[in-house]
Amino acid sequence: MNIVVANWKMNGDIFLAEQFVGRLNEIEDVCEIIICPPAALLWSFRNFKYYLGAQNCFYEESGAFTGENSPRLLKELGCDYVLLGHSERRALFHESDEVIYRKWNAAVAQSLRPIVCIGEKLDERSNWKEVLSRQLKNYIDRRDLNDTIFAYEPVWSIGTGLTPSEEHLAEVIIFLKGILPTSSLLYGGSVSSRNIGGIMSIDGVTGVLVGGSSLKIEEFENIIRQMSENSQIYIIHYEVSH
Ligand code: 13P
Repeated sequence: MNIVVANWKMNGDIFLAEQFVGRLNEIEDVCEIIICPPAALLWSFRNFKYYLGAQNCFYEESGAFTGENSPRLLKELGCDYVLLGHSERRALFHESDEVIYRKWNAAVAQSLRPIVCIGEKLDERSNWKEVLSRQLKNYIDRRDLNDTIFAYEPVWSIGTGLTPSEEHLAEVIIFLKGILPTSSLLYGGSVSSRNIGGIMSIDGVTGVLVGGSSLKIEEFENIIRQMSENSQIYIIHYEVSH
């Protein structure tokens, strides 16, 4: 099934969370919806019928780490997924590939499915292969990546309204598939109801990671509706009805 992940970042409130739960619980099961609200809002999603993800976790299970979130407790709170290595974490909180990899290990140990974010900055556009290879170096030879999702989010496309051309995105996906043949691959960066069709038409893209457009319920429902039209379930129904 196609995957749509909402990254609310540090936005939203209890009212918005309850509105989303009410509206999205009415939607038919046509794609995998994962909402990643701020940690303080996770409890407001306790009746959500789809999936919950955290935006980050620490690499230790418990201890004297003031302000950090334990992967075990996130699991207890109902999370099945956790975003790791988002470019905002890398840039603002100085997370290195090594720290992200420690978090990956801690998440996997708690059966949280990691969604590892990778992507080049604007001034790295010409050597994107090198950047992605460096960010992926810890995962390349692992054979246990079936449950790990990777999200390609070029930093220059986040919150800017800019997206890579379909040709370029297709090239990146082929490159990533070569390194990560068993993992689902998402695209993130200025995803909206206007460009979702083009993004999902690219071979190997199994879903999207949505920032700003995931905070407006009508826009998000519109994205989900178009994701469903791309999903295998839709194709099966289509074939049966003909
Ligand atoms: P925007 O969709 O707002 O560009 O954000 C993308 C993102 O960072 C999702 O993780």
